[in-house]
Amino acid sequence: MNDFNLCYQKYLDEFEEYLGAYVQNLKTKPSILGESMAYSLQGGGKRIRPVLMLACADVLNVAHKEVLPFALALEMIHTYSLIHDDLPAMDNDDFRRGKPSCHKAFGEANAILAGDALLNEAYAVCFEECLKGEKYALASKLLNEYAGAYGMIAGQSADLYFTGKKQDVSEEELLYIYEHKTGKLLLAPVSIPCILAEYKNFMSFEHFGVLLGQLFQITDDILDVTGEFSQLGKSIGKDESENKLTSVRLYGVEGAKIRADIYAKECHAVLESVESDTSFLHQLIDYILVRTK
Ligand code: IPE
Ligand code: IPE
Ligand code: MG
Ligand code: MG
Ligand code: MG
Repeated sequence: MNDFNLCYQKYLDEFEEYLGAYVQNLKTKPSILGESMAYSLQGGGKRIRPVLMLACADVLNVAHKEVLPFALALEMIHTYSLIHDDLPAMDNDDFRRGKPSCHKAFGEANAILAGDALLNEAYAVCFEECLKGEKYALASKLLNEYAGAYGMIAGQSADLYFTGKKQDVSEEELLYIYEHKTGKLLLAPVSIPCILAEYKNFMSFEHFGVLLGQLFQITDDILDVTGEFSQLGKSIGKDESENKLTSVRLYGVEGAKIRADIYAKECHAVLESVESDTSFLHQLIDYILVRTK
């Protein structure tokens, strides 16, 4: 393993241990609720958001124990968004993280409730944090904003709205979808450590987070065409069959790759203005650019 993989694994192990402790204490009645939550939460995810949050905390000298509860809340929100995204009423995807989607394993109604419960649990974690003081409350408020009706859910709504639309779709609509459905939950792990560090490097980090979100969703769209099920753990070719508005649809695979390269370069450039050691973040940009899963 090279330095980057080792470092990623270190962050990942730390997060998995924290998440594992949460899952162990998940005792719902009936138990199927907790089982369906744990099923989707555990195994298979790249955990890019928690890893990014821990890495940003290191750059900003924020202790890991300060950000871990937010990383858990964020991963719960992300996981709920995936459970609902896969439902027949949304993207109708049978596989997620290399396993049958939550609704395939537990039925649609249980999957809806697993998502609902994960979202509420995420805010239970945040409310606990709020009690610690103002900056924790501000971080919680930000996560709520990024996940909610003006954040990720707005993006999901726009994604649905533009599905199948042939007219009046341009880059502007695509960027709105990207910025919200994916961008906001990739901005959260960058912004939250900044808030906990009393807004140190906030402008540069915000800019970096926004660009990284765009890059992440372009590569997701490309992988929907060029990826392999065995690596991605989700069905391939779904965007075209569902007639989604994606960068591949607007620019073709090659055009999308060119744009991904540009976003990656911009991400690198923005980080140059941060004085601390950002080498892991630079490597993370390249990892996202060339990812196969
Ligand atoms: C998938 O996110 C949904 C998007 C926002 C593109 P990830 O690619 O981070 O999925 P996991 O968490 O690794 O399964
Ligand atoms: C999903 O985007 C974004 C969220 C779940 C918020 P996609 O629909 O492109 O994600 P995949 O491809 O199913 O992972
Ligand atoms: Mg979707
Ligand atoms: Mg989807
Ligand atoms: Mg996709």
